[in-house]
Amino acid sequence: MSDAPALPPICDYEETDYEAFWRAGRAYEDLAERIALRALLPPRGRRLVEIGAGFGRLADLYAGYEEVYLLDYARSQVEAARRRWGHDPRFRFVVGDLYRLPFMPGSFDVIVMVRVIHHVRDVPRALREIHEVLRPGGVFILEFANKRNLKAILRYVVGAQSWSPFSPEPVEFAPLHFDFHPAWMRARLEEAGFQIQRERAVSHFRHPWLKRLIPAPALARMDGWVQGIGALWRLTPSLFVRAEAGLVERAMGEGFWRCPLCRRPAREEEAAVVCPEGHRWPREGSLYRMREGI
Ligand SMILES: C[S@@+](CC[C@H](N)C(=O)[O-])C[C@H]1O[C@@H](n2cnc3c(N)ncnc32)[C@H](O)[C@@H]1O
Repeated sequence: MSDAPALPPICDYEETDYEAFWRAGRAYEDLAERIALRALLPPRGRRLVEIGAGFGRLADLYAGYEEVYLLDYARSQVEAARRRWGHDPRFRFVVGDLYRLPFMPGSFDVIVMVRVIHHVRDVPRALREIHEVLRPGGVFILEFANKRNLKAILRYVVGAQSWSPFSPEPVEFAPLHFDFHPAWMRARLEEAGFQIQRERAVSHFRHPWLKRLIPAPALARMDGWVQGIGALWRLTPSLFVRAEAGLVERAMGEGFWRCPLCRRPAREEEAAVVCPEGHRWPREGSLYRMREGI
């Protein structure tokens, strides 16, 4: 069906029980991430998309938005998100690929991406795509895994880890699992046209005995107190960045949907999104199947 250039490999969460991952003792991380996201997210807006939204864990934080799109590569994750949020008419659920977002340029006021870029092999390509679908002046909130975290530094110093947390290049510690140096990620964001506004260092207290000792809400509250100042040192395993899309001249999209194959504007019909070249992307109510092979 496609003669478009090959895309990088995907870390597909199809049929993964990702909700179980969060139920298994990760209340602290969940609460700390919510504190960071709440602090960085504009409280209100028209249109927001979360890319790699999984089952929609964080979607209650988007209450101030008129339209919310939850996009994920894995259909089963998108279906889980619809089970959770489908009752809310502001929500749309999209099976799609961040390397070929099915939206016209400038479509969103806010884009959120949490715990996803650590699965992305071609970060510059992904960031260019994200920048394009954000309106000029729009806000991108990115969470990424920090290779220069305190634990990695200590392990490196005592010889328990071969790779250096100080070298700028990403480390692929397992297939399609990357940790990034903060300066490297900052440079890639700026190259893609983003201006970094604020950062928060998250999960200072991600340690089994601390998590056993102190209840998750209290530990997360403590993390919240130091997330801002901690961004000066960036020694946590997780970093949140709020960046703005530069006010550069660019062709704004006509309409909203874009064919992920031929990249032309597509129109929404009752049961599909259809492009002028005849590619049909099935729609089942609020769920849109906007990639091949599903
Ligand atoms: C670790 S989960 C994070 C889910 C959610 N953001 C959260 O924090 O709860 C990573 C998600 O990214 C999705 N993903 C990975 N590669 C993707 C791609 N190329 N396009 C869209 N989603 C992708 C996976 O399917 C998975 O649901």
